[in-house]
Amino acid sequence: MEVKRIPVILDGDPGHDDAIAWMLAQASPLLDIRAVTSACGNQTIEKTTYNALRICTLLGITAPVAKGRPAPLLEKPMNAPSVHGQSGLDGPVLPEPAMDLSELPAVELMARVLRESSEPVTLVVTGPQTNAAALLLAHPELKEKIARISIMGGGISHGNWTPAAEFNILADPEAADIVFRSGIPVIMSGLDVTEQALIFPKDFERIRAVGNRVARIVADWLEFFYEFHRNIGYAGAPLHDPVAVVSLIRPDLLQTKPMCVEIETRGEYCRGATVGHDRKRANALVNLGIDRDGFADLLVEAVKTYGEDER
Ligand code: BDR
Ligand code: CA
Repeated sequence: MEVKRIPVILDGDPGHDDAIAWMLAQASPLLDIRAVTSACGNQTIEKTTYNALRICTLLGITAPVAKGRPAPLLEKPMNAPSVHGQSGLDGPVLPEPAMDLSELPAVELMARVLRESSEPVTLVVTGPQTNAAALLLAHPELKEKIARISIMGGGISHGNWTPAAEFNILADPEAADIVFRSGIPVIMSGLDVTEQALIFPKDFERIRAVGNRVARIVADWLEFFYEFHRNIGYAGAPLHDPVAVVSLIRPDLLQTKPMCVEIETRGEYCRGATVGHDRKRANALVNLGIDRDGFADLLVEAVKTYGEDER
């Protein structure tokens, strides 16, 4: 029986964990990638866009790729070279882009995909939510065409870039505020769950042993990404962004709770915090736990779907 695939737009700031999230998405027979859009976050928009093109070339993603907005809605860009390196995706050598960038900016490509789709499309947002918010501001008439927004961002119990705020939300809190208030169902994979999505060195080796080019590159990405985290006390690489894809393809691996999540946009100490509670109607399904071993197995199975050079 033919499986009905979920149409998705992948929007991220790759980034090692964004790249692995896209690997998982491309490997899944449940997802139909309609567009890929870059966000300013881990690195400048020029660098994340170049990385997006290289990743799509590596993975055999043929959907159009468009460049996102160069800066958050209000603030100056905030980048994370300490985590992802100067290129935003340091580590293994990647193929040069084999496709051209779309002539449309990300928001207009997203709008075109939504307009042309006969069914609502899911956005998978693994960087700051600038493009998604700009889309909602520029094309409110297309809101009905967005089925869900599955984001990696925030943390109910803590932050990582500040005690209260996680990087993707802190980089553009106004954008996150627009997304969470939009009325569109949000699936939130914050630090509560993504810091449990730990991939250990023994898992890197299982992935590498699969033996194809994507497997080797994913193992190298994991090693690079882990180095930063090892130095600050993690026992493995916290694969934040892939959890936003797991939410769509293997929700059985996750423990969730519906919550009202509000974004702190003003506080001196808490700007960018995701305040989760039950005093108002829930606007998000918040992932709070993950079957770690099941997640590691899912990654190993995903890399097996790739051939020696490409999919
Ligand atoms: C998030 O920040 C980025 O560095 C990662 O790609 C992930 O999206 C984790 O806080
Ligand atoms: Ca990211």
